[in-house]
Amino acid sequence: MKIFLDSADIDEITALSDTGFIDGITTNPSLIAKSGHKIADRIAEICAVIDGPVSAEVTATDYETMLAEGRKLAAIAPNVTVKVPLTRAGLQTCRTLSDAGTKVNVTLCFTSGQALLAAKAGASFISPFVGRLDDIGQDGMGLIEEICSIYANYDYATEILVASVRSTQHVVDAALVGADVVTLPPKILTALYQHPLTDSGLDAFLQDWAKTGQSIL
Ligand code: G3P
Repeated sequence: MKIFLDSADIDEITALSDTGFIDGITTNPSLIAKSGHKIADRIAEICAVIDGPVSAEVTATDYETMLAEGRKLAAIAPNVTVKVPLTRAGLQTCRTLSDAGTKVNVTLCFTSGQALLAAKAGASFISPFVGRLDDIGQDGMGLIEEICSIYANYDYATEILVASVRSTQHVVDAALVGADVVTLPPKILTALYQHPLTDSGLDAFLQDWAKTGQSIL
């Protein structure tokens, strides 16, 4: 399963990029606003650090302007993936851009029907927001399971990119159902490898090792 970082903070991205775990980046207008930088500058900075797909989202709501914005974002770097919302205009923009060879991430997906249309529109990625569904008492991971089944039925090439991840359990559940990608806030990525028993166990090993007076080097 690929792991993307859901961030537009270049310091966070740079700090985690040497882990070897980061297969790509997703941003959205809120994350860009939080960064305090112009979208073109920040996306260019991120693409210089990360080789994998970097999602940059359009902010228009009509087809013509979305298409113009998408083309401008795609021109920033070869690994830019244009992010469009799952609306009629977004799906039309996805179709036009993907037909021209531009990778598109269709975002703000909340139903299997929406995901089906995104695949038919040629999306490279579909981003169902599991956390926001859970937040309103719906079954976010159940949606991922449904989309996995539908896509497998028709051998769609669209990659299922689990977004709005709130916990390490979301990551494990996404892997269990066979999602292609999860995009994680940095705190979830670090939580994925941290465990108190690992820390205490290592402390005990090193205390016992110190008593031997040995050195491996
Ligand atoms: O960036 C897309 C998605 O990951 C946003 O998640 O936490 O704002 O629901 P969140």
